[in-house]
Amino acid sequence: MSRVVSGIRPTGKLHLGNYFGAVKSFLKMQEEDDCFFFIADIHSLTTHPTPEDLHSNVQQVLAEHLAMGVDPQKCALFVQSDVPAISELYTYMNMNAYMGELQRSASFKEKIRTQPNNVNAGLLTYPVLMAVDILAHHADFVPVGKDQQQHLEMTRQFGNRFNNLYSNDYFKEPQAYSSTGNLVKVPGLTGQGKMSKSSGDADTIVFDEEDKVIQKKVMRAKTDTGPTKPNQDKSEEVKNLFDLMALVSDQSTINHFDELYSKAEIRYGDFKKQLAEDVIAFVSPIREKINHFKNDKKALSDAAQIGAEKANASANKTLEEVREIIGFRKFY
Ligand code: ADP
Ligand code: TRP
Repeated sequence: MSRVVSGIRPTGKLHLGNYFGAVKSFLKMQEEDDCFFFIADIHSLTTHPTPEDLHSNVQQVLAEHLAMGVDPQKCALFVQSDVPAISELYTYMNMNAYMGELQRSASFKEKIRTQPNNVNAGLLTYPVLMAVDILAHHADFVPVGKDQQQHLEMTRQFGNRFNNLYSNDYFKEPQAYSSTGNLVKVPGLTGQGKMSKSSGDADTIVFDEEDKVIQKKVMRAKTDTGPTKPNQDKSEEVKNLFDLMALVSDQSTINHFDELYSKAEIRYGDFKKQLAEDVIAFVSPIREKINHFKNDKKALSDAAQIGAEKANASANKTLEEVREIIGFRKFY
């Protein structure tokens, strides 16, 4: 049985990118593997949430995991800050992560560009904390979207460096995983790249959102002036919408609009109307369940508690072994 670890930051409501990039794989893997899925609330401190926002975001994301079918009996579904061993391991691993490599990380460079007034040390060492999340449970696989590939590469590097430093093979190399075989990148609606919580409201479709709002967002999604001749290449914006359709619509619908595009007969209004309908059909049953779980205090507390017990057992064992390897030996 493989060990699996993945985390999602509680910085807003979950969107289609989170589902298809990560949660969909969770649902498959919890059936057959030893899984640790967590809400990365320590990571989210880099954005300086208020205590109230932090708590309500964790509650939201926990309810969303349950609503999407993550089952606390089948996996360890936990809140990162409920596992203190993670923070201790983070301190130790920071000692062999180098400034240069951390500064070269794409996500760090991106943050320097997008939030120049809040370039904190937590952002710089974000990949170290993420590595610890993964290494603490000796994961074989990490179900994540394409955007996390570089972080995983760094995780392997930190693990290997620890092994070399202490002449052992304590940490293994975790691999990225996607239930579809290829790492997924779910595009946003504004034609600018991946769907992300930080890319703005018009760009994302979240699960906890009214049908009417979804409809409006999809209808406003960016397209182009339309194909002028048969078999024309698709523009980035139009390709994005086809990629979204591939996730939520059935094959005959996808083929239908693909053919219309190839014949240069597509009407984007009809295409987006169908896409909106299929997105809504996918999202709305999950939204109902989110509303249920958000108000089910007992389900939330039971899930977090049993998750914390499982995750602490696993991470504390790693911490004890790492302390021994490093040379922290007790005098008493
Ligand atoms: P966001 O990018 O919205 O802030 P997170 O960084 O918290 O979301 O991502 C949580 C998980 O969802 C990660 O595994 C990430 O790879 C995945 N993910 C997020 N956005 C996308 C996307 N647009 N396409 C594929 N996977 C994504
Ligand atoms: N860095 C991930 C993201 O931004 C979230 C994350 C933190 C994570 N720790 C992790 C994902 C461990 C997988 C495994 O999406």
